[in-house]
Amino acid sequence: MTHWTLDSIAWDKFDRSRVNPDLLNIAKAASLVEANGGDYGSYLCSVFSDDPEFQDAARNWALEEVQHGKALARWAKLADPSFDFDEAFKRFTGGIKIDTGRTNSIRGSRCGELVARCIVETGTSSYYSALMDAAEEPVLKEVCRHIAADEFRHYRLFYQYLKNYLEKEKVGPVKRFMIALSRITETEDDELAYAYYAANHSGETYERRRFVKAYVRRAFGYYRREHLERAVGMSLKAVGFKPNGLLSRAITSVATNWLRLRIARLSRAGA
Ligand SMILES: [Fe+2]
Ligand SMILES: [Fe+2]
Repeated sequence: MTHWTLDSIAWDKFDRSRVNPDLLNIAKAASLVEANGGDYGSYLCSVFSDDPEFQDAARNWALEEVQHGKALARWAKLADPSFDFDEAFKRFTGGIKIDTGRTNSIRGSRCGELVARCIVETGTSSYYSALMDAAEEPVLKEVCRHIAADEFRHYRLFYQYLKNYLEKEKVGPVKRFMIALSRITETEDDELAYAYYAANHSGETYERRRFVKAYVRRAFGYYRREHLERAVGMSLKAVGFKPNGLLSRAITSVATNWLRLRIARLSRAGA
């Protein structure tokens, strides 16, 4: 179980004057996605139905994800007392469903599932690191610091199981690379954009393109080269390549420039 709780956070240090409204919007959205971790934990338990050790780890992992949601929701409520988490969560889970009854991974194999989990934890660890560095409000900074540390630990957990399962399943680097790539591109699928909508635009109709752009502009605008560098290294390691080689540096440069251009374009378009 995680070594911090909601009571470890110094909520009394909250400073309203330093709340960034964009960070508030994405913290609300993140609280919904994290709080849904319980369903993903159930899905992992059915995919790994004959591995009680992994199931225990997955249940514990899910509890930590749910705690991330609670911490972010509590901060969002401090920053915006009109934020109704329960209502927003109902809206979110009404539109996004995780198939908890599946007995085989949507990634085609257990190794595939574990590669996808490594990619998600890579994404969340770099995301909360970027938010922590960008946040000026001290409580949000502290919450993000705790969450980012958990996400790095989650990556190591799934990576360890990936190494164990690779001895049984033999999924080669090319296949793993394709799974990682497909999971990375899913970042712009409905789940995150829908969370952004559910958390911030009650009473409006969901328009996929509009909310993907609004979410991406805010969520990825805080990434700096060092966040991307670490994320690229962790992703490469999960698919079986060297994390710090020439390939890693080349991908980091392309990703940094591409993201910079994309954010500038979205800002100009008023996303
Ligand atoms: Fe999380
Ligand atoms: Fe995580």
